[in-house]
Amino acid sequence: MTPGETVEPLISAEQIETRLQGLADEIIRDYGEKPIILLCALTGGVIFLADLSRKLGNNTTIDFVRASSYGDGTVSNGKVRLDCHPKLDLASKDVLVVEDIIDTGHTLAYLKKYLEDMNVASVRVCALLDKPSRREVPEAQADYLGFSIPDEFVVGYGLDYAQRYRNLPYVGILKL
Ligand code: XMP
Ligand code: MG
Repeated sequence: MTPGETVEPLISAEQIETRLQGLADEIIRDYGEKPIILLCALTGGVIFLADLSRKLGNNTTIDFVRASSYGDGTVSNGKVRLDCHPKLDLASKDVLVVEDIIDTGHTLAYLKKYLEDMNVASVRVCALLDKPSRREVPEAQADYLGFSIPDEFVVGYGLDYAQRYRNLPYVGILKL
């Protein structure tokens, strides 16, 4: 850890593990044997994808997308672009977006529109975390949600600060 930075635990590895099983059960209940494409939003979603996908059945395939906000600052300003596109042909497929966190909702709204324009059969969203108090796009919601959290900057379990802390096994609040 960089001097002056601390991470205050918020959601333990055990809590994540238990909640992921709950999410997997919900997803299996809803999709049954239907094939699903798990579309992981890089980079933050990658640890979540790895653990969640291994709790789902054999009818899943995995692909990736990377959405970035452009402009200055760390907060997305609604101007989103994709700098990594899916490899698979998603037309007529049931797509489940696997996201680390929904904050303002701009990224998710952009991604959902992008997928709808590709004529997917369906798009749902599975997010590990949600900061509802920060929402600017009300319709950007998770269909499957791990944890609702307060408006704090969190790291760990895929989430970073300056690309660090993604490999922490828990989610914590970054204190600078
Ligand atoms: P929006 O605002 O478009 O942004 O919903 C979602 C993206 O913003 C990043 N984000 C965070 N990353 N800790 C992080 O490491 C946080 O507390 C946090 N809040 C938002 C993240 O990339 C997410 O996909
Ligand atoms: Mg992200």
